[in-house]
Amino acid sequence: MTDGSKDSATVAGGATPVGASQAAAAPTAPAATPASPAPVDPKAAADALAAFEAEQAGAEPAPAAVAAGPAAAAAAKAPAPGPAAAKAPAPAASKSITGGAPIKQPLAPGAPVPVVSFKGVTKRYGEGEGAFTAIRDVSFEIPDHPGRGEFVSILGPSGCGKSTVIRMIAGLTPQFPQTTGEVLVDGKQILGPGPDRGMVFQDYTSFDHRTVLDNVAFGLECQGMGKAERNDLARHWISKVGLSIKRDADKHPHELSGGMRQRVAIARTLILKPRIILMDEPFGALDPPTRSKMQDNLVDLWREQSPTIFFITHSIEEAVFLGDHILIFSNSPGTVLKEVRVPPPEKPALVTQRDPKFQEIVWGIREIIDKLESSNRAGD
Ligand SMILES: Nc1ncnc2c1ncn2[C@@H]1O[C@H](COP(=O)(O)OP(=O)(O)O)[C@@H](O)[C@H]1O
Ligand SMILES: [Mg+2]
Repeated sequence: MTDGSKDSATVAGGATPVGASQAAAAPTAPAATPASPAPVDPKAAADALAAFEAEQAGAEPAPAAVAAGPAAAAAAKAPAPGPAAAKAPAPAASKSITGGAPIKQPLAPGAPVPVVSFKGVTKRYGEGEGAFTAIRDVSFEIPDHPGRGEFVSILGPSGCGKSTVIRMIAGLTPQFPQTTGEVLVDGKQILGPGPDRGMVFQDYTSFDHRTVLDNVAFGLECQGMGKAERNDLARHWISKVGLSIKRDADKHPHELSGGMRQRVAIARTLILKPRIILMDEPFGALDPPTRSKMQDNLVDLWREQSPTIFFITHSIEEAVFLGDHILIFSNSPGTVLKEVRVPPPEKPALVTQRDPKFQEIVWGIREIIDKLESSNRAGD
Protein backbone atom coordinates (compact mmCIF):
# COMPACT_ATOMS: atom_id res chain seq x y z
CA MET A 1 0.00 0.00 0.00
CA THR A 2 2.25 2.63 -1.12
CA ASP A 3 1.46 5.82 -2.72
CA GLY A 4 -1.57 5.84 -4.92
CA SER A 5 -1.59 6.75 -8.48
CA LYS A 6 -2.19 10.25 -9.37
CA ASP A 7 -1.94 10.90 -12.96
CA SER A 8 -4.49 12.61 -14.85
CA ALA A 9 -5.18 13.81 -18.18
CA THR A 10 -6.39 16.92 -19.59
CA VAL A 11 -9.88 17.81 -20.05
CA ALA A 12 -12.27 20.44 -19.10
CA GLY A 13 -15.69 21.24 -19.98
CA GLY A 14 -17.94 23.32 -18.34
CA ALA A 15 -21.05 23.64 -16.76
CA THR A 16 -23.06 24.95 -14.08
CA PRO A 17 -23.92 24.27 -10.65
CA VAL A 18 -27.52 23.73 -10.50
CA GLY A 19 -28.44 23.12 -7.01
CA ALA A 20 -29.26 25.20 -4.12
CA SER A 21 -28.73 24.43 -0.56
CA GLN A 22 -30.21 22.55 2.15
CA ALA A 23 -30.34 21.71 5.67
CA ALA A 24 -30.73 19.52 8.58
CA ALA A 25 -32.43 16.47 9.63
CA ALA A 26 -35.62 14.60 9.89
CA PRO A 27 -35.73 11.83 12.36
CA THR A 28 -37.06 8.51 11.30
CA ALA A 29 -36.45 4.90 11.92
CA PRO A 30 -34.39 3.77 14.81
CA ALA A 31 -31.36 2.65 12.96
CA ALA A 32 -27.85 3.81 12.94
CA THR A 33 -26.05 4.99 9.90
CA PRO A 34 -22.40 4.86 9.46
CA ALA A 35 -21.60 1.71 11.25
CA SER A 36 -19.06 2.16 13.88
CA PRO A 37 -15.86 0.48 12.92
CA ALA A 38 -16.68 -2.84 14.36
CA PRO A 39 -14.56 -5.38 16.08
CA VAL A 40 -12.58 -6.26 13.05
CA ASP A 41 -9.05 -7.38 13.28
CA PRO A 42 -7.07 -4.53 11.71
CA LYS A 43 -4.39 -6.90 10.56
CA ALA A 44 -6.92 -9.11 8.78
CA ALA A 45 -8.44 -6.01 7.24
CA ALA A 46 -5.09 -4.80 6.01
CA ASP A 47 -4.31 -8.24 4.63
CA ALA A 48 -7.63 -8.46 2.83
CA LEU A 49 -7.05 -5.07 1.33
CA ALA A 50 -3.52 -5.92 0.31
CA ALA A 51 -4.70 -9.14 -1.33
CA PHE A 52 -7.36 -7.27 -3.23
CA GLU A 53 -4.89 -4.64 -4.30
CA ALA A 54 -2.47 -7.28 -5.51
CA GLU A 55 -5.21 -8.99 -7.44
CA GLN A 56 -6.30 -5.74 -9.02
CA ALA A 57 -2.77 -4.65 -9.71
CA GLY A 58 -2.18 -7.82 -11.65
CA ALA A 59 -5.42 -8.02 -13.49
CA GLU A 60 -7.32 -4.84 -13.83
CA PRO A 61 -6.68 -2.74 -16.89
CA ALA A 62 -6.32 0.97 -16.50
CA PRO A 63 -9.73 2.44 -15.90
CA ALA A 64 -9.21 4.91 -18.66
CA ALA A 65 -9.17 2.15 -21.19
CA VAL A 66 -12.79 1.55 -20.46
CA ALA A 67 -14.10 4.74 -21.83
CA ALA A 68 -15.46 5.10 -25.22
CA GLY A 69 -14.96 8.00 -27.51
CA PRO A 70 -14.39 11.63 -27.37
CA ALA A 71 -18.10 12.06 -27.62
CA ALA A 72 -19.43 11.13 -24.29
CA ALA A 73 -22.90 10.39 -25.49
CA ALA A 74 -21.66 8.10 -28.14
CA ALA A 75 -19.43 6.48 -25.62
CA ALA A 76 -22.31 5.80 -23.33
CA LYS A 77 -24.08 3.87 -26.04
CA ALA A 78 -21.09 2.12 -27.47
CA PRO A 79 -20.73 -1.57 -26.90
CA ALA A 80 -18.13 -2.55 -24.42
CA PRO A 81 -14.89 -1.91 -26.20
CA GLY A 82 -12.96 -4.73 -24.67
CA PRO A 83 -12.06 -6.66 -21.62
CA ALA A 84 -11.71 -3.51 -19.64
CA ALA A 85 -15.32 -2.64 -20.16
CA ALA A 86 -16.40 -6.07 -19.19
CA LYS A 87 -14.55 -5.62 -15.94
CA ALA A 88 -15.98 -2.27 -15.08
CA PRO A 89 -18.27 -2.89 -12.16
CA ALA A 90 -21.82 -2.03 -13.07
CA PRO A 91 -23.71 0.06 -10.58
CA ALA A 92 -26.23 -2.64 -9.99
CA ALA A 93 -24.15 -5.73 -9.99
CA SER A 94 -20.92 -5.92 -8.20
CA LYS A 95 -18.65 -8.48 -6.84
CA SER A 96 -18.87 -9.10 -3.20
CA ILE A 97 -17.26 -6.71 -0.88
CA THR A 98 -13.69 -7.57 -0.35
CA GLY A 99 -11.32 -4.72 -0.24
CA GLY A 100 -10.01 -1.67 -2.00
CA ALA A 101 -7.56 -1.44 -4.82
CA PRO A 102 -5.28 1.33 -5.93
CA ILE A 103 -6.33 2.87 -9.16
CA LYS A 104 -3.88 2.70 -11.92
CA GLN A 105 -3.60 5.20 -14.60
CA PRO A 106 -2.89 6.54 -17.24
CA LEU A 107 -4.48 7.07 -20.56
CA ALA A 108 -3.11 5.10 -23.44
CA PRO A 109 -2.82 7.08 -26.65
CA GLY A 110 -6.15 7.10 -28.39
CA ALA A 111 -7.98 6.01 -25.25
CA PRO A 112 -11.36 7.49 -24.52
CA VAL A 113 -11.51 10.92 -22.99
CA PRO A 114 -12.17 10.99 -19.25
CA VAL A 115 -15.28 12.71 -17.94
CA VAL A 116 -13.19 14.85 -15.63
CA SER A 117 -9.49 15.23 -15.34
CA PHE A 118 -7.19 17.34 -13.26
CA LYS A 119 -3.61 17.66 -14.31
CA GLY A 120 -1.17 19.31 -11.97
CA VAL A 121 -3.81 21.69 -10.67
CA THR A 122 -2.84 24.31 -8.11
CA LYS A 123 -5.12 26.95 -6.64
CA ARG A 124 -3.87 29.98 -4.80
CA TYR A 125 -6.28 32.43 -3.25
CA GLY A 126 -5.12 36.03 -3.16
CA GLU A 127 -2.06 37.66 -4.58
CA GLY A 128 1.53 38.28 -3.62
CA GLU A 129 2.64 37.76 -0.06
CA GLY A 130 -0.85 37.18 1.21
CA ALA A 131 -1.54 34.43 -1.30
CA PHE A 132 -2.70 31.14 0.16
CA THR A 133 -2.17 27.83 -1.61
CA ALA A 134 -5.31 25.75 -1.08
CA ILE A 135 -4.48 22.80 -3.34
CA ARG A 136 -1.18 21.89 -4.93
CA ASP A 137 -0.48 19.74 -7.96
CA VAL A 138 -3.75 17.84 -7.88
CA SER A 139 -4.01 15.19 -10.57
CA PHE A 140 -6.67 12.56 -11.14
CA GLU A 141 -8.78 11.22 -13.91
CA ILE A 142 -12.36 9.98 -13.84
CA PRO A 143 -12.99 7.61 -16.72
CA ASP A 144 -16.09 7.55 -18.83
CA HIS A 145 -17.37 3.99 -18.60
CA PRO A 146 -19.93 2.99 -21.20
CA GLY A 147 -23.38 3.62 -19.83
CA ARG A 148 -22.46 4.53 -16.31
CA GLY A 149 -20.73 7.20 -14.35
CA GLU A 150 -18.36 6.60 -11.49
CA PHE A 151 -19.29 7.43 -7.93
CA VAL A 152 -16.27 9.30 -6.65
CA SER A 153 -15.99 9.81 -2.90
CA ILE A 154 -13.59 12.48 -1.70
CA LEU A 155 -12.03 12.12 1.75
CA GLY A 156 -9.58 14.47 3.41
CA PRO A 157 -9.06 16.65 6.47
CA SER A 158 -10.91 19.94 6.89
CA GLY A 159 -9.38 22.76 4.93
CA CYS A 160 -7.44 20.51 2.55
CA GLY A 161 -9.24 21.88 -0.50
CA LYS A 162 -12.05 19.39 -1.18
CA SER A 163 -14.65 22.09 -1.76
CA THR A 164 -12.14 24.00 -3.84
CA VAL A 165 -11.81 20.99 -6.14
CA ILE A 166 -15.49 20.35 -6.72
CA ARG A 167 -16.46 24.01 -6.98
CA MET A 168 -13.75 24.32 -9.57
CA ILE A 169 -15.38 21.51 -11.55
CA ALA A 170 -18.67 23.37 -11.18
CA GLY A 171 -17.01 26.44 -12.65
CA LEU A 172 -17.83 28.54 -9.60
CA THR A 173 -15.67 31.52 -8.72
CA PRO A 174 -13.46 32.21 -6.88
CA GLN A 175 -12.42 28.56 -6.86
CA PHE A 176 -12.63 28.59 -10.64
CA PRO A 177 -10.40 29.17 -12.47
CA GLN A 178 -7.39 27.28 -11.21
CA THR A 179 -4.12 29.15 -10.82
CA THR A 180 -2.07 26.60 -12.76
CA GLY A 181 -2.66 23.20 -14.33
CA GLU A 182 -5.54 21.87 -16.37
CA VAL A 183 -9.11 21.09 -15.38
CA LEU A 184 -10.98 19.38 -18.19
CA VAL A 185 -14.49 18.03 -18.57
CA ASP A 186 -14.96 15.74 -21.53
CA GLY A 187 -11.60 16.91 -22.76
CA LYS A 188 -12.48 20.58 -22.81
CA GLN A 189 -11.50 23.52 -20.70
CA ILE A 190 -14.19 24.67 -18.33
CA LEU A 191 -15.48 28.12 -19.13
CA GLY A 192 -17.83 28.50 -16.18
CA PRO A 193 -20.94 26.83 -14.84
CA GLY A 194 -23.01 24.76 -17.24
CA PRO A 195 -26.08 22.54 -17.32
CA ASP A 196 -24.00 19.39 -17.60
CA ARG A 197 -22.92 19.93 -13.97
CA GLY A 198 -25.23 20.16 -10.99
CA MET A 199 -24.16 21.09 -7.51
CA VAL A 200 -25.72 20.25 -4.16
CA PHE A 201 -24.24 22.34 -1.37
CA GLN A 202 -23.90 21.46 2.26
CA ASP A 203 -25.70 24.54 3.48
CA TYR A 204 -28.04 25.06 0.70
CA THR A 205 -30.71 27.58 0.71
CA SER A 206 -33.83 26.94 -1.20
CA PHE A 207 -35.85 30.01 -2.13
CA ASP A 208 -37.92 30.63 0.92
CA HIS A 209 -40.62 32.55 -0.91
CA ARG A 210 -41.21 29.62 -3.24
CA THR A 211 -43.09 26.46 -2.44
CA VAL A 212 -41.39 23.09 -2.58
CA LEU A 213 -42.96 22.52 -5.98
CA ASP A 214 -41.72 25.85 -7.32
CA ASN A 215 -38.27 25.31 -5.85
CA VAL A 216 -37.96 21.92 -7.50
CA ALA A 217 -39.28 23.29 -10.79
CA PHE A 218 -37.05 26.35 -10.69
CA GLY A 219 -34.34 25.14 -13.08
CA LEU A 220 -36.89 24.01 -15.64
CA GLU A 221 -38.63 27.37 -15.34
CA CYS A 222 -35.30 29.03 -16.09
CA GLN A 223 -35.04 26.84 -19.17
CA GLY A 224 -38.41 28.13 -20.34
CA MET A 225 -40.43 24.96 -19.85
CA GLY A 226 -44.19 25.52 -19.59
CA LYS A 227 -45.85 25.46 -16.19
CA ALA A 228 -47.93 22.30 -16.55
CA GLU A 229 -45.04 20.26 -17.85
CA ARG A 230 -42.50 21.46 -15.30
CA ASN A 231 -44.91 21.01 -12.42
CA ASP A 232 -45.60 17.44 -13.50
CA LEU A 233 -41.90 16.73 -13.56
CA ALA A 234 -41.39 18.48 -10.24
CA ARG A 235 -44.08 16.32 -8.61
CA HIS A 236 -42.39 13.25 -9.98
CA TRP A 237 -39.09 14.33 -8.43
CA ILE A 238 -40.66 15.33 -5.13
CA SER A 239 -41.89 11.81 -4.70
CA LYS A 240 -38.66 10.33 -6.02
CA VAL A 241 -36.66 11.88 -3.20
CA GLY A 242 -39.13 10.57 -0.68
CA LEU A 243 -41.30 13.62 -0.05
CA SER A 244 -45.06 13.56 -0.23
CA ILE A 245 -46.67 15.40 -3.14
CA LYS A 246 -49.84 15.80 -1.17
CA ARG A 247 -48.33 16.94 2.11
CA ASP A 248 -45.16 18.72 1.07
CA ALA A 249 -45.45 20.20 -2.42
CA ASP A 250 -47.20 23.37 -1.30
CA LYS A 251 -45.12 23.99 1.77
CA HIS A 252 -42.39 26.57 2.01
CA PRO A 253 -38.83 25.61 3.01
CA HIS A 254 -39.17 27.04 6.54
CA GLU A 255 -41.98 24.57 7.17
CA LEU A 256 -39.71 21.61 6.50
CA SER A 257 -37.16 19.76 8.57
CA GLY A 258 -33.54 19.93 7.52
CA GLY A 259 -33.64 16.48 5.97
CA MET A 260 -36.66 17.45 3.94
CA ARG A 261 -35.01 20.66 2.75
CA GLN A 262 -32.03 18.56 1.75
CA ARG A 263 -34.33 16.42 -0.36
CA VAL A 264 -35.77 19.51 -2.01
CA ALA A 265 -32.27 20.70 -2.88
CA ILE A 266 -31.34 17.31 -4.28
CA ALA A 267 -34.56 17.12 -6.30
CA ARG A 268 -34.01 20.55 -7.80
CA THR A 269 -30.57 19.54 -8.93
CA LEU A 270 -31.42 16.07 -10.20
CA ILE A 271 -34.52 17.16 -12.10
CA LEU A 272 -32.17 18.80 -14.58
CA LYS A 273 -30.39 15.48 -15.12
CA PRO A 274 -26.86 16.80 -15.05
CA ARG A 275 -24.28 14.37 -16.31
CA ILE A 276 -21.98 15.32 -13.45
CA ILE A 277 -23.33 15.80 -9.94
CA LEU A 278 -21.18 17.59 -7.40
CA MET A 279 -22.16 17.07 -3.76
CA ASP A 280 -20.33 18.89 -0.98
CA GLU A 281 -20.98 17.07 2.30
CA PRO A 282 -24.66 16.94 1.45
CA PHE A 283 -25.62 14.61 4.28
CA GLY A 284 -23.37 16.06 6.95
CA ALA A 285 -26.20 17.65 8.91
CA LEU A 286 -28.57 14.71 8.81
CA ASP A 287 -29.36 12.41 11.70
CA PRO A 288 -28.16 8.84 11.18
CA PRO A 289 -31.45 7.20 10.12
CA THR A 290 -32.24 9.94 7.64
CA ARG A 291 -28.71 9.83 6.38
CA SER A 292 -28.96 6.10 5.66
CA LYS A 293 -32.18 6.63 3.77
CA MET A 294 -30.68 9.42 1.74
CA GLN A 295 -27.68 7.27 0.94
CA ASP A 296 -29.94 4.50 -0.36
CA ASN A 297 -31.94 7.03 -2.29
CA LEU A 298 -28.85 8.42 -3.91
CA VAL A 299 -27.61 4.96 -4.86
CA ASP A 300 -30.97 4.27 -6.53
CA LEU A 301 -30.81 7.51 -8.46
CA TRP A 302 -27.24 6.84 -9.45
CA ARG A 303 -28.19 3.43 -10.81
CA GLU A 304 -31.12 4.83 -12.66
CA GLN A 305 -29.42 7.75 -14.33
CA SER A 306 -25.76 6.80 -14.20
CA PRO A 307 -24.31 10.26 -13.72
CA THR A 308 -20.75 10.76 -12.61
CA ILE A 309 -20.97 11.80 -8.95
CA PHE A 310 -18.38 13.58 -6.83
CA PHE A 311 -19.29 13.27 -3.18
CA ILE A 312 -17.34 14.93 -0.37
CA THR A 313 -17.72 13.38 3.05
CA HIS A 314 -15.92 13.12 6.36
CA SER A 315 -17.30 9.66 6.93
CA ILE A 316 -15.12 6.80 5.72
CA GLU A 317 -18.13 4.50 6.02
CA GLU A 318 -20.18 6.75 3.79
CA ALA A 319 -17.33 7.12 1.30
CA VAL A 320 -16.89 3.35 1.09
CA PHE A 321 -20.59 2.56 0.96
CA LEU A 322 -21.44 5.06 -1.77
CA GLY A 323 -18.27 5.28 -3.75
CA ASP A 324 -16.61 2.98 -6.18
CA HIS A 325 -13.62 5.26 -6.52
CA ILE A 326 -12.19 7.10 -3.51
CA LEU A 327 -9.82 10.06 -3.70
CA ILE A 328 -7.90 10.60 -0.48
CA PHE A 329 -6.50 14.09 -0.05
CA SER A 330 -3.57 15.20 2.06
CA ASN A 331 -3.52 17.98 4.60
CA SER A 332 -3.47 21.52 3.30
CA PRO A 333 -2.37 22.37 0.70
CA GLY A 334 -4.31 19.39 -0.53
CA THR A 335 -3.10 16.93 -3.10
CA VAL A 336 -4.28 13.46 -4.03
CA LEU A 337 -2.35 11.05 -1.85
CA LYS A 338 -4.10 7.91 -2.87
CA GLU A 339 -6.85 6.64 -5.10
CA VAL A 340 -8.66 3.49 -4.13
CA ARG A 341 -11.30 1.47 -5.87
CA VAL A 342 -13.94 -0.26 -3.77
CA PRO A 343 -16.94 -2.32 -4.80
CA PRO A 344 -20.09 -0.31 -5.49
CA PRO A 345 -23.03 -0.69 -3.12
CA GLU A 346 -25.20 -3.70 -3.68
CA LYS A 347 -27.38 -3.74 -0.57
CA PRO A 348 -29.05 -1.05 1.52
CA ALA A 349 -26.77 1.05 3.71
CA LEU A 350 -27.86 -0.44 7.00
CA VAL A 351 -27.41 -4.00 5.79
CA THR A 352 -24.08 -3.28 4.15
CA GLN A 353 -22.69 -1.52 7.17
CA ARG A 354 -23.24 -4.55 9.32
CA ASP A 355 -21.39 -6.76 6.88
CA PRO A 356 -17.98 -7.74 8.27
CA LYS A 357 -16.49 -7.55 4.79
CA PHE A 358 -17.64 -3.96 4.47
CA GLN A 359 -16.14 -3.20 7.84
CA GLU A 360 -12.88 -4.74 6.72
CA ILE A 361 -12.73 -2.39 3.78
CA VAL A 362 -13.47 0.57 6.01
CA TRP A 363 -10.68 -0.54 8.32
CA GLY A 364 -8.37 -0.93 5.38
CA ILE A 365 -9.08 2.62 4.21
CA ARG A 366 -8.72 3.91 7.74
CA GLU A 367 -5.32 2.26 7.91
CA ILE A 368 -4.30 3.81 4.61
CA ILE A 369 -5.33 7.24 5.86
CA ASP A 370 -3.51 6.78 9.16
CA LYS A 371 -0.36 5.72 7.37
CA LEU A 372 -0.58 8.56 4.90
CA GLU A 373 -1.13 11.03 7.68
CA SER A 374 1.81 9.82 9.69
CA SER A 375 4.11 9.77 6.70
CA ASN A 376 2.87 13.23 5.85
CA ARG A 377 3.68 14.45 9.31
CA ALA A 378 7.11 12.91 8.98
CA GLY A 379 7.61 15.10 5.96
CA ASP A 380 7.65 12.31 3.39
N1 LIG B 1 -12.35 32.24 -1.40
C1 LIG B 1 -11.32 31.92 -0.62
N2 LIG B 1 -10.38 32.84 -0.30
C2 LIG B 1 -9.32 32.52 0.47
N3 LIG B 1 -9.12 31.30 1.00
C3 LIG B 1 -10.02 30.36 0.75
C4 LIG B 1 -11.18 30.60 -0.07
N4 LIG B 1 -11.89 29.46 -0.17
C5 LIG B 1 -11.22 28.55 0.56
N5 LIG B 1 -10.12 29.07 1.09
C6 LIG B 1 -9.12 28.38 1.92
O1 LIG B 1 -8.62 27.30 1.17
C7 LIG B 1 -8.46 26.16 2.00
C8 LIG B 1 -9.25 25.02 1.42
O2 LIG B 1 -10.64 25.33 1.56
P1 LIG B 1 -11.78 24.32 1.15
O3 LIG B 1 -11.61 23.97 -0.28
O4 LIG B 1 -13.05 24.92 1.56
O5 LIG B 1 -11.39 23.06 2.06
P2 LIG B 1 -12.28 21.81 2.53
O6 LIG B 1 -13.52 21.78 1.71
O7 LIG B 1 -11.38 20.61 2.30
O8 LIG B 1 -12.55 21.97 4.00
C9 LIG B 1 -8.90 26.57 3.39
O9 LIG B 1 -7.77 26.93 4.15
C10 LIG B 1 -9.77 27.77 3.15
O10 LIG B 1 -9.74 28.66 4.24
MG1 LIG C 1 -15.49 21.98 2.27
